[in-house]
Amino acid sequence: MSAGIISSAYIVASVLFILSLGGLSHPESARRGNIFGMAGMAIAIVVTVFSRQAGHYPIIISMMAVGGAIGTAVARRVEMTAVPQLVALLHSLVGLAAVLVGVANYLDPAIEHQGVEQTIHAIEIYLGVLIGAVTFTGSVAAFGKLQALISSSPLLIPGRHFFNIAIGIVCIFLGYQFVSAGHVPGGLFPLLFMTALAMVFGLHMVLAIGGADMPVVISMLNSYSGWAAAATGFMLSNDLLIVTGALVGSSGAILSYIMCRAMNRRFVAVILGGFGTTGGKAAVTPQGEVNVFTGQETALLLQSSKSVVVVPGYGMAVAHAQHSVSDMMKTLRDNGVNARFAIHPVAGRMPGHMNVLLAEAKVPYDIVLEMDEINLDLPATDVVLVIGANDIVNPSAQEEPDSPIAGMPVLEVWKAETVVVLKRSMATGYAGVDNPLFYRDNTRMLFGDAKNSIDEVLKNL
Ligand code: TAP
Repeated sequence: MSAGIISSAYIVASVLFILSLGGLSHPESARRGNIFGMAGMAIAIVVTVFSRQAGHYPIIISMMAVGGAIGTAVARRVEMTAVPQLVALLHSLVGLAAVLVGVANYLDPAIEHQGVEQTIHAIEIYLGVLIGAVTFTGSVAAFGKLQALISSSPLLIPGRHFFNIAIGIVCIFLGYQFVSAGHVPGGLFPLLFMTALAMVFGLHMVLAIGGADMPVVISMLNSYSGWAAAATGFMLSNDLLIVTGALVGSSGAILSYIMCRAMNRRFVAVILGGFGTTGGKAAVTPQGEVNVFTGQETALLLQSSKSVVVVPGYGMAVAHAQHSVSDMMKTLRDNGVNARFAIHPVAGRMPGHMNVLLAEAKVPYDIVLEMDEINLDLPATDVVLVIGANDIVNPSAQEEPDSPIAGMPVLEVWKAETVVVLKRSMATGYAGVDNPLFYRDNTRMLFGDAKNSIDEVLKNL
């Protein structure tokens, strides 16, 4: 394949990736965005494979068949609620690939550079391996936390900041040694030693982060994986990989910023890692009685209301209740009730989780409102139904300065006349923090699986 065709195809693929990101910025255009992304990736793969020598085809194609089969099997089986873990695992593969490509690039006798070119190439390799190693172990740790294989509480070793700084200093020193050593084998030891240190750093960085801050970690690792891919692009002199990596890296960084704002965390502290862990103790377990409601009572209450707000959370995803919730909303709206959804930016377990579920249940976009818009309306709302949400409606974020979620913006559902909380028990949410909302005078608890409860409400409406 000629260089001209390859470059043109790469430009087309880059444009498709940009259009894809543009499409993904709104639920209505997200499907189109995905199609652009798939088309861009198909072009990229075909062109990259056919730009190799024909002798390489059998191994490339058989590896793609194995990878494709594993990917298809995993994607078909994975539950929507487990997508964040899957994404974390995929990020780890990007990081590992960057490490392997970097080391292989260094060892490849066919790649010979001299003078300044040699220095630049060495820096590319070093940075690519460094970012890749941090991404690899950081993503594995994030996977472990999200899959509840390891505790979501932060691991705080004494002097951890000094430990991180020491790793940083040693990595800079090793980088200097690697670049000055030049060709194989002189730089191999600094390169491999740095790889081990960067892996320890990635692991330590994510383990030190508390459960409530995981949304930011996911988008941050997303960004890191982009930069690792871009660095690999430099090593392989592949323009498309550089562009794509930069797109993923920068969009992940923007998403991290948005997440930080949603969680009220400082961006710089996030970039440095080990954030959201200073001070803070678990809220005192609230005491008192809770008011228990039935599905029938909830239906009666809804029937006599003029305005209703539904707050979906992770539990709605677990219960697969979105279709029943959508039917209930339709019934209410058909009966003249002003019924709307309130979406918290970190509801569920991944950015846009609730929007995806509601779109799947064909909920019209104009009744799906963001937190800032709906918070103003909540004091004038008759009933708020909290469906499988917990942390995102926890008043202790505003009222208890010692709470681990203190300062996190929340949906102020307690300001409504009545709040009905649908969940199975009094268990805490992802952040492991008790929720005083459940004990308030204007709160009613409707215990049970969210789908069963909503079906019961629907039956009685
Ligand atoms: P959570 O605070 O995790 O609360 C979910 C609640 O759903 C639980 O208290 C659980 O109570 C209930 N539940 C579970 N299964 C249920 C079922 N089948 N039927 C009814 N209820 C069920 O969820 P949230 O309010 O959506 O908040 C999200 C949390 O996840 C935040 O802490 C956020 O920081 C974190 N997080 C978010 C993301 C992103 S990017 N969105 C990523 C990682 C972490 P029971 O067990 O009593 O039923």
